This record gives sequence, C-alpha cells and structure tokens, in this order.
Amino acid sequence: MIEPIYLNHAGTSWPVPTPVADAVCEAMRAHPVEWPDRFLKAHAAVCRFFGVADPDQLLLTPGCTSSLSTAVASVDLPAGSHVLTSRWEHHAVYGPLQKLSANGVVVDVVPDGDDSPMDLGSLEQSLATKDARLVAITAACNVSGDLLPITQIIELSHRYDAMVLIDAAQIVGWMDLPLDELGADMVAFGGHKGLQAPWGIGGLYMAKSAKLKCATAQCAIPDPKTGATSSQWGSRPGYCDVGSVDQYSLAGLEAALHRLGETTRLADLEVARQQVSRLRETLSGDRRVTLYGMAEGSRRLPTIAFSVAGETSGQSAERLRKHGLIVGSGLQCSPLSHEAMGTSETGVVRISVGVRQPENEIAVACERLADFCAGAH
Ligand SMILES: Cc1ncc(COP(=O)(O)O)c(C=O)c1O
Repeated sequence: MIEPIYLNHAGTSWPVPTPVADAVCEAMRAHPVEWPDRFLKAHAAVCRFFGVADPDQLLLTPGCTSSLSTAVASVDLPAGSHVLTSRWEHHAVYGPLQKLSANGVVVDVVPDGDDSPMDLGSLEQSLATKDARLVAITAACNVSGDLLPITQIIELSHRYDAMVLIDAAQIVGWMDLPLDELGADMVAFGGHKGLQAPWGIGGLYMAKSAKLKCATAQCAIPDPKTGATSSQWGSRPGYCDVGSVDQYSLAGLEAALHRLGETTRLADLEVARQQVSRLRETLSGDRRVTLYGMAEGSRRLPTIAFSVAGETSGQSAERLRKHGLIVGSGLQCSPLSHEAMGTSETGVVRISVGVRQPENEIAVACERLADFCAGAH
C-alpha cells in the first residue's frame, strides 16, 4: 500500500502539528478554575497575531461559517437596501445573503473584470447608484484560489459609505492580516485551514467604526462585590465567551499561531506557490486537462482547480486516490463559483498544498500526478 499524500488543505489542513495537538490535550486536562485565565490569555494571543489592539473587537466563534452569519445578521439592512457581492463566494457568505431577500434586501452580484474576479468599475457604478449598505466578499475563491483585490474594494466601498465584510477563510495562515490596519468593517476567519488549528474555532473582527445593530444577549460576569449578575444587550454580537467558546480548540489555535508567528507569512506562501506551480506544470502537459483560475501564480493562493475531459471531478478524484493523492472534488460548497466557471455539472478537482508541506511529498506528488495523466488517455 502506498502512503497517501494529502493535498486538500484549502478544505482542512492535515496533519495537526504536534505542538497544536499537545496544546489541545493539555487544555482538556486543565482544572475549571483555570478556564477564565486561559481564555483571556488565548484570546489576547489571537488578537496579537491579527494586530487587534482591543480584544472586544474580536469575537471568538465556532468557525468562519458562524462568523459570517453572525456578521450578516448584525448589519442594519432595511428593505430596499442593497448588498453587493462577487461571483466567487462560498455558500457561507452567499447563503446568509440569499436569506436577506425575504426581508426585501436586494443582493447584487458584481461581474468579473477582464483580468480580475471583480470589475472595480462595475462595483463603483453600483455603489454610486444604489443604496448599497454592505459589500460582502471573499478574499480568495476557495475553488480556484484566485485573490480578490480587497484593499481596493474596501477603499472604494468606504468612499460611498458602504460597510465591508471580508471572508478571510482561505487567506489566513497564508497572508499577513493586520486587522486594525486593513480597514474592513468586519473580517471572518476559521482556524482549521491555513492556520493549522483544529476545527471548532474561528473569529469575527469588528472595527470600532462598524455600525452594527445587534440584539445579542450577553451574560454579565458576576459583580465581584455583590455577586449579582445581569443580562445585557450588547451593541456588538457576542456569545457568553468563556462558557460557549470551544476552549480546547482555542488552546490549539493559540499554539498554532505561536508556531506560525516564527516566520513571515510571505515566505511560506512563496514556497507553496512554487510547489503548486510544479504540480500545475505536470497537469498542463495533458491535453484532456482544463485548468481554471488566473494563470499568474502570484494572484492565486497555492491551489489548482482542474477537470479532465470525459470524467466527473468525483471520478478523477477517485482515480487520484488510487494513485495515492488525496484531493478535493465536487462543488467545494461554492455553487456560485461553479456557475461562474461553467462547471456546475461536473465540479472540479481541487489540489491545494499546506503551509510548510514537506518538499519530498511534493516531489512524489508530481510523479504520481504524471502517472495519473498518463492513465487518463
Ligand atoms: C471561502 C470560505 N468561506 C467560508 C468557509 C467556511 O469555513 P468554516 O469551515 O471555518 O466554517 C470556507 C470553508 O470551506 C471557505 O473556503
């Protein structure tokens, strides 16, 4: 039996690094008296990693999906107002947006540019002519890895007084994301992809300037003098943090960030892009393979989306599994992207390398991919 090589890190990273797994186990054994302090320390570490000065601006959540639906539900969107989004959204963004239409909110999908997943001219036109209150976009398409120009989108949207929500699920761990500096009103992320933390933990950043309308009950911590507690209504979304955050996964996230913090994100991304370009080159020699996404590697995350003529993506993925490569297939929870790519019927195969994936695995993966291509004829 050949040892399979895991190449689906854009779905979930694997294996969990040893210090991360150790931190989870250690947290499971911690005494309850330690829980509040452990929570505060880990929360502060997450804020430090993301350049957030005030921990109240970063809500810990069960993951990016949860962050995104909390964010969308917290924006004041009257009937007749517009939300703008891209053609490349994961359902975790597009699903909550679609539900808004029941309240009379209009969701507009901004078209692509000639050489970009979003046409900034069309975006500006919508911002200028419609009552656009929110621009909700992914930082990178989870199918193709294509990056959206988020800095320009934030700047443009703010010029027209629209708030911006960024789905950072794909870019965290690959790109530096200093949230206080970025300027987005809200940023959602999860731990289990590029950050290499366990499932069950993520975050929602809310800028001080973000005008939110929340009806979230927050449990007040008992007054140390009187012991009295009271229920409050916050102006920010909130959970009863210490009681409801997965503290084991949070401990894993803290350890994962500590590990990643040792080098800059850019160095890991450059290595992974080179690895992916070797895999892509192997595929591009095969006439039956169609590659998706922007040609220029520097405008993509280390992800490859492709299909093989005459096969569904599930069939290709199964053949790849027999060649010892574990990849993603199907619609990757992003039917909108597949509509844009014209691949709704067959889906695509997605190969995505991990942060610091061992070089020898990539060399073997190239050989196995070449065998796969040879077998497709
Ligand atoms: C772009 C994008 N957004 C949101 C999500 C949902 O993330 P989570 O699994 O942390 O809820 C994913 C995960 O596949 C994703 O790729």
